[in-house]
Amino acid sequence: MTDKLIIFDTTLRDGEQSPGASMTKEEKVRIAKALERLRVDVIEAGFPIASVGDFEAVQAVARVIKDSTVCGLARALDKDIERAGEALKEANSARIHTFIATSPIHMKMKLRMEPDQVVEQAIKAVKKARQFTDNVEFSPEDAGRSELDFLCRVVEAAISAGARTINIPDTVGYNIPHYFGELIRQLRERIPNSDQAIFSVHCHNDLGLAVGNSLAAVLNGARQVECTINGLGERAGNAALEEIVMAVKTRKDIFPCSLDHLDTTQILNCSRLVSSITGFPVQPNKAIVGANAFAHESGIHQDGVLKSRETYEIMRAEDVGWTANRMVMGKHSGRNAFRTRLKELGIEFAAEAQLNEAFARFKELADKKHEIFDDDLQALVTEANLEAENESIQLIALKVCSETGEVPHASISIRMDGVEHSAVADGGGPVDAAFKALEVMVNSGSQLLLYSVNNITTGTDAQGEVTVRLQKDGRIVNGQGADTDIVIASAKAYINALNKILSKVQRAHPQTGNV
Ligand code: KIV
Ligand code: ZN
Repeated sequence: MTDKLIIFDTTLRDGEQSPGASMTKEEKVRIAKALERLRVDVIEAGFPIASVGDFEAVQAVARVIKDSTVCGLARALDKDIERAGEALKEANSARIHTFIATSPIHMKMKLRMEPDQVVEQAIKAVKKARQFTDNVEFSPEDAGRSELDFLCRVVEAAISAGARTINIPDTVGYNIPHYFGELIRQLRERIPNSDQAIFSVHCHNDLGLAVGNSLAAVLNGARQVECTINGLGERAGNAALEEIVMAVKTRKDIFPCSLDHLDTTQILNCSRLVSSITGFPVQPNKAIVGANAFAHESGIHQDGVLKSRETYEIMRAEDVGWTANRMVMGKHSGRNAFRTRLKELGIEFAAEAQLNEAFARFKELADKKHEIFDDDLQALVTEANLEAENESIQLIALKVCSETGEVPHASISIRMDGVEHSAVADGGGPVDAAFKALEVMVNSGSQLLLYSVNNITTGTDAQGEVTVRLQKDGRIVNGQGADTDIVIASAKAYINALNKILSKVQRAHPQTGNV
């Protein structure tokens, strides 16, 4: 019998630690539902002690998710573990993931603790977490740079204390597949009680090896992989879920474990949703979920694929959701069809009024755009949620003049804290002029780090999805906006970012911050 490979998704926790990728409670719930449809085993929903918002988001995910286990992260501290236990109280199946650093550099420079103290704290934390649930995961942070003997000692102690999953993180993405696989093998062989826990890995992508390292670990006995949709995560990100899953499924001949429990046709939907909510675009040549992943440009390839698909294709596009996503709606589609399609995409509204509002937006869009695809619907709902949250600043009207030989000009009206304001500005282009006019009114003092436009679907009537990244006082936020008019989409994205940067929400970082 082949073992099952446990897929632990940490898009909502480690993914959210990417600068600017923070998500609201509603957004986390939407992504969690999409992950549940993909049937991932564990959803790490956040770090509950980071802020009230994080606590409530984990709690909300724990309330709605029934089939996947919901996990909360906690440092090896009583207050973190109690907060995680509280947030997960209503989960059908809950896991607490507690961690403490074990590498010499982290223990000395970050924790300022002796190795013996680290072992003691790890034991105490696992025992404390067991008071809330039997399902406790322990991670020796920076295991990838820890000394093997010490790692064996901590892990053995954590298992004796009651940890049922031992996660080995390559926190700084320092490892190389052959050696990382060997590390997992050594740990399993040398730790006397290793058979009482499932070994897991959590690899960062600093050297572009997160997926390779994770797969090497699986070949050496790891039976849980921690990963994120689109490889989102700190710095260069985590191992991409879609790549891990499709590698293991495609090379059944090599991997001694199965992923038959997953519904891989949901992969693309998850990818699009995460990209649209975070504003992190997916590069066209990204494996599995990039626009070109299954496109055949060269004549030789096309000819081969037409004669026999397997000549150049190792996976079927439809198995990861490519064809399912082409469902088209138009201006003649009725409310029921709209509601049904949204439901299939995992989007449900608490109140009928919200559905009516979304349907009105859909009709407005259908007047401008002939065919509406699933991605348009996702963007439409993201947009509606953004507006509902944009309490402070809202766009009322925008007019731009762009003419050859003339200086581009924008005039813009907004509502800020209930009061209407208008301003005009010139700029290098219409978008620049619109942003300058907004700054005349808001005077945020923030720095623009990134401006990017992506078309959501194809065609010149496609909606443009704009991401704006702003930085102020060390804080980085992303704003998104979508519209068939990209100047309007840009203004919406800038306003969304301004609302985030002006909000006072402060959150702690699990690995560096002090609560
Ligand atoms: O990268 C890391 O070490 C982590 C831990 C909290 C598991 O994210
Ligand atoms: Zn991590």
